[in-house]
Amino acid sequence: MHKTLINPHGGHLIDRKLAGGERDRALEAAASLTTLTLSDRNLHDLECIATGIYSPLEGFVGEEDYHTIVNDMRLSEGHAWSIPISLQVSDQEADRYPLDGDVALAHPDGTVLAIMTVSDKFRPDQDHEAERIYRTADGAHPGVAAMRRAGPVYLGGPVALIDELPDRSFVDYALTPHRTRAEFAKREWDTVVAFQTRNPIHRAHEYLTKCALEMVDGLFINPLVGTTKSDDIPAEVRMRCYLVLLERYYPQGRVVLGTYPAAMRYAGPREAILHAISRQNYGCTHFIVGRDHAGVGDYYGTYDAQHIFDEYNADELAIAPLRFEHAFYDTRSQQMATGKTSPSTPEERIFLSGTKVREMLQRGEMPPEEFTRTEVAEILMGALQEA
Ligand code: ADX
Repeated sequence: MHKTLINPHGGHLIDRKLAGGERDRALEAAASLTTLTLSDRNLHDLECIATGIYSPLEGFVGEEDYHTIVNDMRLSEGHAWSIPISLQVSDQEADRYPLDGDVALAHPDGTVLAIMTVSDKFRPDQDHEAERIYRTADGAHPGVAAMRRAGPVYLGGPVALIDELPDRSFVDYALTPHRTRAEFAKREWDTVVAFQTRNPIHRAHEYLTKCALEMVDGLFINPLVGTTKSDDIPAEVRMRCYLVLLERYYPQGRVVLGTYPAAMRYAGPREAILHAISRQNYGCTHFIVGRDHAGVGDYYGTYDAQHIFDEYNADELAIAPLRFEHAFYDTRSQQMATGKTSPSTPEERIFLSGTKVREMLQRGEMPPEEFTRTEVAEILMGALQEA
């Protein structure tokens, strides 16, 4: 491994995948265990835990970690951690899973994927969780709503993965942290900037990634492909946009594209920290945080997701945030810019909200090239018409 690669969060990369005889024994044991059917969100979390994206977590969080995460943004042993990765069930279901016993975690199609040892079973105050993690208890917030829907009883404990999770759509791009680390080392990249996105790459996103790429060795485009809210653009449409952009507008040798299998929580600042830690585990040294990162509606201040990094001491997060102000097309200087580089007045700036773009596409109108590349607009328009 390349000697200069950044350490995973907590020191070493977690790998909870079973192999060989261990796997065979677990599969056999699972047949006589009580089965817990995982939700989409749980499946994404299981994948992130098992492959080390969520290092140092080895399972769904127990009660002690839950409380220190919620109240102090740290795991109980001290490492920075911002969002509890929870396995929640209903009251009725909870009785089926004995404390200190094993359960078989299954895909909704019935396939047993993993075994979990239930070390913790607890019933936390979800209003408190909502206020601390999402900064609101409003049930209209998609992250808060999903948390409440998932059930009031939380099960914690280490997991061991028996089978790869079914990931049909983007197998070529489902790179684990082991793979990306090997890839970055092979390319001899000392510094790698990660870019999280749940959108197509529009001109503003492209600008951020390229500004960052001026300063580091490589760019890891790492779009989130887990569950998102229904009005976000589906991952398979976005993947087409990324591929066309990479082929035409990015230098081939300096970019790696890999999917981030997590679900979106829309937790703004707290999620920015989780996103950064995950990218450190992939081997990245820098992480782009722009305007309203992982935000939704107007629950968060424009730069809250940048300020939250200051709540940790310098030695707590090894990955460095690269903070960007709101980017737009500046018609006066005829280039992408931010308020830091452009003298333009608001009237001279082209920037469209996601809602505005959706409305334009629905009317059959192409968004301007200053906002998104024509190739991307065409893919989005085509997808909308097929839908
Ligand atoms: S997010 O939920 O993944 O944050 P999105 O895909 O829109 O949403 O953003 C990806 C990254 O680009 C985030 O860091 C976000 O802050 C940043 N970003 C998006 N649009 C802009 C913009 N116009 N100016 C500056 N940063 C932006």
